[in-house]
Amino acid sequence: MSFQEELLQIFVPEKDVPAEYQLPHEINQREYLSNGEMKQWNGATHTVVSPVCFPTDNGFERKVIGSYPVCTEKEAMEALDAAVAAYNNGRGEWPTMSVDKRIKCVEAFTKKMIEQKDIVVKLIMWEIGKSYADSVKEFDRTVEYIYATIDALKDIDRDSSRFDIEQGIIAQIRRSPLGVVLCMGPFNYPLNETFTTLIPAIIMGNTLLFKPPKHGTLLHYPLLKAFKESFPKGVVNTIYGRGNTIVPGLMQSGKIDVLTLIGSSKVANQLKKLHPKVNRLRAILGLDAKNAAIITAHADIQLAVDETVLGSLSFNGQRCTALKIIFVHQSIATEFITQLKEAVAKLKYGMPWEKGVALTPLPEPGKPEYLHDCIEDAKAHGAKVMNENGGTIAETFVYPAILYPVNDKMKIYREEQFGPVIPIVPFTDLEEPIQYLIASTHGQQVSIFSNDTEETAALIDPLVNQVSRVNINCQCQRGPDVFPFTGRKDSAEGTLSVVDALRSFSIRSLVATKMNEKNKHLVNDIVNSQHSNFLSTKYIF
Ligand code: G3H
Repeated sequence: MSFQEELLQIFVPEKDVPAEYQLPHEINQREYLSNGEMKQWNGATHTVVSPVCFPTDNGFERKVIGSYPVCTEKEAMEALDAAVAAYNNGRGEWPTMSVDKRIKCVEAFTKKMIEQKDIVVKLIMWEIGKSYADSVKEFDRTVEYIYATIDALKDIDRDSSRFDIEQGIIAQIRRSPLGVVLCMGPFNYPLNETFTTLIPAIIMGNTLLFKPPKHGTLLHYPLLKAFKESFPKGVVNTIYGRGNTIVPGLMQSGKIDVLTLIGSSKVANQLKKLHPKVNRLRAILGLDAKNAAIITAHADIQLAVDETVLGSLSFNGQRCTALKIIFVHQSIATEFITQLKEAVAKLKYGMPWEKGVALTPLPEPGKPEYLHDCIEDAKAHGAKVMNENGGTIAETFVYPAILYPVNDKMKIYREEQFGPVIPIVPFTDLEEPIQYLIASTHGQQVSIFSNDTEETAALIDPLVNQVSRVNINCQCQRGPDVFPFTGRKDSAEGTLSVVDALRSFSIRSLVATKMNEKNKHLVNDIVNSQHSNFLSTKYIF
């Protein structure tokens, strides 16, 4: 049996899917949340297919999970109007609500969200092929992120519940919302990464237009009711449809105050340019990345191998933080590759519900073909696939390929593969990977593997000015979520972390007055009467 035939056997018949991982039924969404209502949709729909295939009489077919509305610009504009009305130039119920009340709404939402855990986790698994274990982790991490966000906001609010007196001026400084936020998340962390922008945006008093990711759409459906019941009408509005049909008009309206997108820099650039007043538009963006590992002659090879496997193949390499190019010192390249091949060969491949599975089918149509092209292009320019069966494709599954030696003529040298291909570039002088990073259009993170103090220090200083996080002897990653997550060049705009996101989705506003008896009296009266939610010394516990 060929390896490809062997691989095809991972796609078991539908009846062999364990009952506890099956979806209860096809999920055919015919409604969306807009202006506080679940609006019915009778128009066009998009059929959602899983990366998981089943053998059928017609060959292997991707499982149909359900469908969702493909709305038009009209519905998107109605949702925009709802968000604009709910914001009401900053005078709406939500932007003027006290922070503790807003927190209570988010807490109520989170409780309802947790009730939907089972179905949301299953949908993550079926829609994007993420292992069941990682889908659970994604859900739990998101809930933890929300609670951490609430705690961070309480801290910010407590710090702001005081007056500052400077040069005869008394002031209270708080953070205020920015307006209407257009939020779009990525397919690889469709719940978590979307919510790391959506939740801070809402909790700071903004109103929202939320477009679920193209793959990873249905998993948001069970949460719409929770949004509807937890927030005033018009605070959270969903938009469904083809991005290139519904989003341009929203941007051209000039009514979007904040664009938050985890996706490609190309899309972000196109959208920003559509806004009639770019100076008014805030952008909080997580974009392309091609994080490098630099494995020096003084590295612990075993450790570098373990971290390279995690860094380049977790969720099949479909992480923005994945290690997407590996520079290895020539003197240890053979040993490194030998060990890497062994480690990759040990990874379990199969269906996302299988215990211990590391490699699973890919959700993006055309992705296996793209990765195949990258491998063929690398081969044409002198690289070899170093591991047995590397790059073998079976329907939606791509077996990892280790490519060596990779050089600057290959497209894999610069392009973000976002998949299970590990390009290895040999080097003799540390200046080579440094120059790669300088020339790169990306600037998210890097991993250095070395146990030599001087060498590591000499790399840290130039690299912190090329990327936003230098990892020593470990893979690149976003977490812990309290750490700043950002990037230089085309990799990001703005900073996300539990605390930074709250800052990113708000602006400081202050109320100030000259310190004299009349004003002191006035300010005290306002505070004591509790007539203002902003000018207040109320303390949230
Ligand atoms: O796709 C990018 C994610 O933010 C990666 O998060 O590094 O924690 O897996 P992670």
